[in-house]
Amino acid sequence: MECSWKTVLLLVCASLGVQYTAIRTLRDSMSGPCQGVYRCQTRYYRDSKWRALCDDSWVPIESPRKHILLFATTRSGSSFTGQLLNQHPGIFYIFEPLYHVQQAFTNSSSRLRRTLDRRALLGAYRDLLLNLYTCDLHFMENYIRPEPQDHITSSFFRRSSSHALCSSPVCSEGENPAASDSPDETWCPKKCGALNLTLASMSCLSKGHVAIKTVRIPEVGDLRTLTEDPRLDLKIIHLVRDPRAILASRMMAFSDQFRAWKIWNATGRQPRYVDLSQITSTCKDMAASAETGLQRPAWLRGRYLLVRYEDLAFNPKHKATEVYRFVGLEMEDRVRTWIAKNTNSNASSPSEWNYRYSTTRDSRATAESWRLRLGFDIVRTIQNLCNDTLALLGYKQVHSAAELRNLSHSLVEHRTFQPVTW
Ligand SMILES: *[C@@H]1O[C@H](CO)[C@@H](O)[C@H](O)[C@H]1NC(C)=O
Ligand SMILES: *[C@@H]1O[C@H](CO)[C@@H](O)[C@H](O)[C@H]1NC(C)=O
Ligand SMILES: *[C@@H]1O[C@H](CO)[C@@H](O)[C@H](O)[C@H]1NC(C)=O
Ligand SMILES: *[C@@H]1O[C@H](CO)[C@@H](O)[C@H](O)[C@H]1NC(C)=O
Ligand SMILES: *[C@@H]1O[C@H](CO)[C@@H](O)[C@H](O)[C@H]1NC(C)=O
Ligand SMILES: *[C@@H]1O[C@H](CO)[C@@H](O)[C@H](O)[C@H]1NC(C)=O
Repeated sequence: MECSWKTVLLLVCASLGVQYTAIRTLRDSMSGPCQGVYRCQTRYYRDSKWRALCDDSWVPIESPRKHILLFATTRSGSSFTGQLLNQHPGIFYIFEPLYHVQQAFTNSSSRLRRTLDRRALLGAYRDLLLNLYTCDLHFMENYIRPEPQDHITSSFFRRSSSHALCSSPVCSEGENPAASDSPDETWCPKKCGALNLTLASMSCLSKGHVAIKTVRIPEVGDLRTLTEDPRLDLKIIHLVRDPRAILASRMMAFSDQFRAWKIWNATGRQPRYVDLSQITSTCKDMAASAETGLQRPAWLRGRYLLVRYEDLAFNPKHKATEVYRFVGLEMEDRVRTWIAKNTNSNASSPSEWNYRYSTTRDSRATAESWRLRLGFDIVRTIQNLCNDTLALLGYKQVHSAAELRNLSHSLVEHRTFQPVTW
C-alpha cells in the first residue's frame, strides 16, 4: 500500500482533532459548575469566584467541591444530622430531593418501591443526585408535580429545611430574623414566594459544597457508580440508629400506617395482620450497607463514615467534629452555635420546632425515649428479627421489661467503627 506524506499528515491531523475534541468534551463535563453555556453566560456567574473556570482557556480544573451524602433511613435522626450540615455557611443543603422521583414513579407508599423496576428507579435517583451535585436544580423539573412553569415551583419538598433555599439570593426577604437557626415551615413559603429554580441553581454554585440527605437509597452499594464518578468527590455519611428506636419513632410519626402496631403496643398482643416486613428490610439494608462499608472496598476508600445516631445525640460536639473532619471541612461557628442551642438537655425548655420532622433540643432524651414507649413484647420481636443488625452495630438486647425501662443501663455499646482516615 502506498502512503504519501500528505496522507500521513492528514491522518495525524485528524487523529489530533479527535483527541482535542475528546479532551474538550471531557473537560467540559468535568468542570462541574461550568457545564453548559447558560451557566457561564449568566451575569451572576460571570461575576462569581468561579469566573476563571468559565473562560474558554486551558485552566486545569481542580474541583475543591465536596459532595456530601447523608445516607440514612426514615426516622433515624437524619433531620437532626442534616441540620449539622445545613448550618454550615459554605454548604448548599437539600433535604430528600429523591422524594419527587419516587412520587413520579409511583404516588403510592414505599411498600411498592421493591416491586417497581428497581434498577430504573435507582438509576433515576443517581441521575438526579449527580445533577444536583453539579448544581443543576432544573433537573428536578422532570419529577416535581405539578410541573414547574418558567422554572418556578411551589411544590419543592421540604424547601424550608434548606437554609440556602430560604435566604438571599433565592429569597429576596433575606433571612428570617426570628428563626434563622431552625427551619420554619410557614415563614419561608409565605415570605419568599414560589421557588425560582434558576436562582436556586445559582445559589448552589455560589456555595463551595453540596450536601444532600436521602432516606430512599436502600444500600450503599447502590451508590457505587457515584463514588466512582470522576466529576464527584463523594463523601458518604451512613447514619444508623437502633432499629427499636426507629420503629418507635415511626409509630409516633406515621400513626395511620402503624395502627396495628399501636394496638399491639397497647394490648401486649400481636395482631395477626401486623406488617413486619418494613422494619425487617430496614434492618437488612442497614446491616448490608454497614458490612459493605466496614469491609473497605476500594470504591469506598476514604468515602464512607458510619455514624450511630446515638453517639451523635449523646456527644454532639465531639461527633460533629468527627463528621466535619471526615468530609474535610472546618466546622464553622454557626454549626457550633446551632449545636449549643439545640442539644442542651434542659427538659424545661420546650422545643420551638413543633412539627412532625422536628429535631429537638434534648437530643439525649430523644435518642432513648423509645425505651419508655415500646412494649417489651414488641421489643423482643424486633430483637429476633434484627438480631444480626443489633450485634453488628453494637446495640444490646434486653431480656426483661425491667431491663428495658432502666435507663441507667445503657444499651449502646462503646464502639469505634473505623479511623476517620483510612
Ligand atoms: C396518583 O394516582 C392516582 C390514581 O392511582 C391519580 O388519580 C392521581 O392523580 C395520582 N397523583 C399524582 C400526584 O400523580
Ligand atoms: C428566576 O430567576 C432568574 C435569575 O435571576 C430570572 O432571570 C428569572 O426571570 C426568574 N424567573 C421568574 C419567573 O421570575
Ligand atoms: C435550664 O432551664 C432553667 C429554667 O428554665 C434555666 O434557669 C437554666 O439556665 C437552663 N439551663 C441551661 C443549661 O440552659
Ligand atoms: C405504647 O404504650 C405505652 C403505654 O403502655 C404508651 O405510653 C406509649 O406512648 C405507646 N407507644 C406508642 C409508640 O404508641
Ligand atoms: C440471630 O438469630 C439467628 C436465628 O435465630 C441465629 O442463627 C443467629 O446466630 C443470630 N445472630 C446473632 C448475632 O446472634
Ligand atoms: C439499672 O441498671 C444499673 C446499671 O446496669 C444497675 O446498677 C441497677 O441495679 C439497675 N436498676 C434496677 C432497678 O434494676
